[in-house]
Amino acid sequence: MDKNTFYITTPIYYPSDKLHIGHSYTTVACDALARFKRLQGKEVMFLTGTDEHGQKIQDKAAAAGVTPKQYVDNIVEGPGGVKDLWKLLDISYDRFIRTTDDYHMESCQKIFTTLHDKGDIYKSVYKGHYCKPCESFWTDSQLKDGKCPDCGRDVYEAEEEAYFFKTSKYADRLLKWYEENPQFIQPESRKNEMIAFIKQGLQDTCVSRTTVPWGIPVPFDTKHTMYVWVDALSNYITALGYGNEKYSDYDKFWPADIHMVGKEILRFHTILWPAMLMALDLPLPKRVFGHGWLLMNGGKMSKSVGNVVDPVVLCQRYGVDAIRYFLLREIPFGNDGMFTNEALINRINSDLANDLGNLLSRTVAMCEKYFGGTVAPTGAATEFDEDLKAVVSAMPAQVAKDMDELLIPQALQEIFKAIQRANKYIDETAPWALAKDESKKEQLQQVLYNLCESLRMAAILLNAYLPNTAPKMAAQLGLAEGELSFEDLSWGKRASYTVHKGEALFPRIDVNKELAELAAQDAARKAAAEAAKAAEKPAEAPKAEQAEAKEQEHLPEITIDDFAKCEMRVAKVLTCERLKESKKLLKFTLFDGERERTILSGIAKWYAPEDLIGKHLCIVANLAPRPMMKGKYVSEGMIVSAEDDEGNVTVLQLPETVKPGAQLC
Ligand code: MSP
Repeated sequence: MDKNTFYITTPIYYPSDKLHIGHSYTTVACDALARFKRLQGKEVMFLTGTDEHGQKIQDKAAAAGVTPKQYVDNIVEGPGGVKDLWKLLDISYDRFIRTTDDYHMESCQKIFTTLHDKGDIYKSVYKGHYCKPCESFWTDSQLKDGKCPDCGRDVYEAEEEAYFFKTSKYADRLLKWYEENPQFIQPESRKNEMIAFIKQGLQDTCVSRTTVPWGIPVPFDTKHTMYVWVDALSNYITALGYGNEKYSDYDKFWPADIHMVGKEILRFHTILWPAMLMALDLPLPKRVFGHGWLLMNGGKMSKSVGNVVDPVVLCQRYGVDAIRYFLLREIPFGNDGMFTNEALINRINSDLANDLGNLLSRTVAMCEKYFGGTVAPTGAATEFDEDLKAVVSAMPAQVAKDMDELLIPQALQEIFKAIQRANKYIDETAPWALAKDESKKEQLQQVLYNLCESLRMAAILLNAYLPNTAPKMAAQLGLAEGELSFEDLSWGKRASYTVHKGEALFPRIDVNKELAELAAQDAARKAAAEAAKAAEKPAEAPKAEQAEAKEQEHLPEITIDDFAKCEMRVAKVLTCERLKESKKLLKFTLFDGERERTILSGIAKWYAPEDLIGKHLCIVANLAPRPMMKGKYVSEGMIVSAEDDEGNVTVLQLPETVKPGAQLC
């Protein structure tokens, strides 16, 4: 029989830096699933937490001049830390585990000892490349051009005593498990990667270090600490009380219904973790889902790349539910997705403000205007009622199916399909016209009741995704708290409505104004950062020296990777005009192979607009957008040109055979 419990986990986060919106993505997705399962009446255990040991944290703490524990305490519990972020994003976790919690460390030591006693952990020698200054071992594949990937210095072959886990012993059992449990690894494409990885031949895993003191000590050989992944993966059972007295939920919730993880850590969760569980004779989790990444400027968002987006800033600007909605709706679950301000604003405007917000405000306003706020069914149908009812009634089962298959964007799409159907129903039935005809009063009331029913059903489901908005909808519709369960999802369940007009759910955003403002903020932030950097630089050289140096002025040498950061593309000039506000500037609309963009360029002295219309130019496409003319325009890139000795400017033009979008390299 199906258990009425549901155990869902996020990965536990490295608190080496503040979390960014990419981290929030996994957690918001798990939260939506957890809330949905609760709505369906399941007893849910939603676990999240932090993975606090290892070299990286140790180094960060040393750099900050604090102990590792002080360092992680601040990032996890401190103001603006991990727990604050989850509170802000309305993450309804049931348990938060920190791998520095005593009970977890005690359980991990028991797990390690058990595996050792069973012969699945053995002592041997770890061979690798050692970087002395970093005190780190690296494998062949980790080295960068044969050097230490952290500091770039030479490494030398070295050996270290270490314990190993017999991962290789479990290769066949793992493959058999995948075959017998087709749901275990999802999405399907990722399963094939894991199978191929195992078939290449599994190595045993080095599970202890003698050079990383910030870790859980191996209980029977305390000069060793445990490999962070053994410590981290164990959290999924220690948090339920496995091997400790702190909790006693293991029997109730294990095996987990789903481990949700990013694709880059799927291998740990589908090979090392199940092999450890097999060695411990414990059941395996039912599903491991490897989702894609949230990308920004084409790359995975990451602090080291410097392309992170701060979720706190986004929530303050647009509201928590708008951000949750964007994350859940925009990215096909399982694939990578792009974060852009435009995409976010468009989602807010089209789905939340237009579709959802308008449906509610129009419905409530009409109930008040025509019936003093109270409507009940009259039985006077219009020809459009059956279709609306069919679409809305089909929604709950379809959403539930999508959620079971982890198709979160599709589930939301399903809800919005019903919302759009209801908006269309307003246009079809034209209540304002019915209101003019006294004999159509009953029909009008039925129409408004039908709209309230549609909104009620949508609000119940939306609770899982938009936990701040759905209650606002319920309040405007006059629903009580006890009416928001899955059982209430049947058409006609409510006898009547007394509505109360409230504030607009999502005010519409003026896209151009907003983008200009964001660009201005970005420019100001960058200028402040530059100024701060300049303030750190040594005093400038005396004027005479500067003059001498001018002759050989060159930028510092860059690597091919530095160059690759500059995206130069061919773009076709669609329009070009002079600006009455400026003698210098020409305003271009260009097609860059994907979209149209506006660029302002100071070349009016050398070109008439008609000289350039239709021409294929070269643009720097990934330059941060820049507000110009006091924010009236935003220039989205730069046109590449060259200046001769007289200071005349010529733009770089390419033949028409080089199509828009072609990259210059
Ligand atoms: N500590 C390990 C997990 C141990 S679980 C037993 C870890 N931590 S992490 O902080 O680096 O990443 C946590 C999760 O955030 C991972 O699933 C990772 O994929 C996810 N993300 C980090 N950046 C991300 C994006 N830009 N986009 C989507 N998810 C991202 O790995």
